[in-house]
Amino acid sequence: MKLYASILGVGIGEMHELMLEAEKARIDGFHFDISDGCFTPNLTFGPWLLRSMRNMLLAPFEAHLMTNNPERYYDELSCCTETIYFHPEASVSPMRDINKIHSLGMEAGIAITNDVHVSTKLLENVDVMLLLLVKPGFPGQSMQQGSLERIDMLREMRDNMKLNFEIAVDGGVKPENAALLVHAGAQRLVSGSGIFGNKKPSDSIMKFREVV
Ligand code: DX5
Ligand code: ZN
Repeated sequence: MKLYASILGVGIGEMHELMLEAEKARIDGFHFDISDGCFTPNLTFGPWLLRSMRNMLLAPFEAHLMTNNPERYYDELSCCTETIYFHPEASVSPMRDINKIHSLGMEAGIAITNDVHVSTKLLENVDVMLLLLVKPGFPGQSMQQGSLERIDMLREMRDNMKLNFEIAVDGGVKPENAALLVHAGAQRLVSGSGIFGNKKPSDSIMKFREVV
């Protein structure tokens, strides 16, 4: 199990310090939610934040693009992130996006909400499938009902098709449900308030490790 810290709910003033603490507690990576105010109602931050944090931290970064036409950001992000997730319904050509992300030397991930269908061709080419367990855009929500079944179904589909993508989950992930999520098939856990909610990220990270 790999644990990624989502910084969406963290204030800009305390962000660097909290990320350093998470890194000291051996977080596996940081997850940045880039929203454009169109694909989701809220506006977060742009690639500049990843660029400015890149030289101050060692752990891998991943960018979760909750934007229309996500391809606008791939070149700019290639210097400062290892993984890019995009939502296929926001893209003009998801297959072209996967190829572009790969050509820039990054892992390509597809983020899916409840009702989005992903073609076999995409599943064959993607590195990570990110299942959103909440409505995209906002931290601090509870995991939706049926999430464990969705993970389990995706895992079964992957295994039956003999594919290799990793399964990641995002939204409402807490130490309390981490073991169930991993048992259902999640290999990467993305957590925001589950890590930064109590202002002592190192304790929360330890709790995640203990329960899984
Ligand atoms: C939701 C975001 C998540 C969110 C996670 O749209 O993609 O990454 O920040 O936050 P929590 O863990 O608080 O649900
Ligand atoms: Zn996210």
